[in-house]
Amino acid sequence: MNIKIAPSILSADFGKLNQEIGSVEQYVDLLHVDVMDGHFVPNITIGAPVVRCIETKLPLDLHLMIEHPENFIEDFVKAATEKGRSKKDVSITVHQEVCKDLRKVLEQIHSFGVKAAVSINPATPLKMIEGVLDDVDMVLVMGVNPGFGGQKFIENALEKIAALRKMKPDLDIEVDGGINAETGKRCVETGANILVAGSYIFGAKDRKQAIVSLR
Ligand code: DX5
Ligand code: ZN
Repeated sequence: MNIKIAPSILSADFGKLNQEIGSVEQYVDLLHVDVMDGHFVPNITIGAPVVRCIETKLPLDLHLMIEHPENFIEDFVKAATEKGRSKKDVSITVHQEVCKDLRKVLEQIHSFGVKAAVSINPATPLKMIEGVLDDVDMVLVMGVNPGFGGQKFIENALEKIAALRKMKPDLDIEVDGGINAETGKRCVETGANILVAGSYIFGAKDRKQAIVSLR
């Protein structure tokens, strides 16, 4: 499978966000946008108004680490597509842990014409999402407890990636948190095909080189 790289803007300088995105744009495949609410995760980041200001031709990979995502999906779809981005270039990922009716939330996302994905935290077993694997465009396996960039990779993500790949040979499997050249390589060998990296890319002296080392 083709490996895709998704830099996470969480580790970028938000004061010059579009410039930061521009510094990596030509070397990557997607832009990973971390939305945090201070409830589901112990940190607050950005919402739809900032997503609206993102200027890039890259597809947007919106990672919603928020409670009640169903209340915000329409806002994010509008913010992501308002300036002409095609709906097929937008994916919205929700966490299994916050969805009482996961299938319904995924259907809601699809009803807007964008891609729908589900994510699981390190402590959440794969069996919690097995029932929806035919209804998603991507699964996001967390390599850290969500909330902050720069944390250490938690190894149990590898077992989940391997099991998922066995079940779904063609599914997009993304891994997020603690990814560098070494952990990224192991995730790809295990079956992941989309690598999210924040601090490893934006913290690097040579961002292009950091991205190249992930491929
Ligand atoms: C963590 C976020 C990640 C984060 C990854 O809660 O979902 O996307 O930015 O950061 P690194 O790559 O530094 O672990
Ligand atoms: Zn993320």
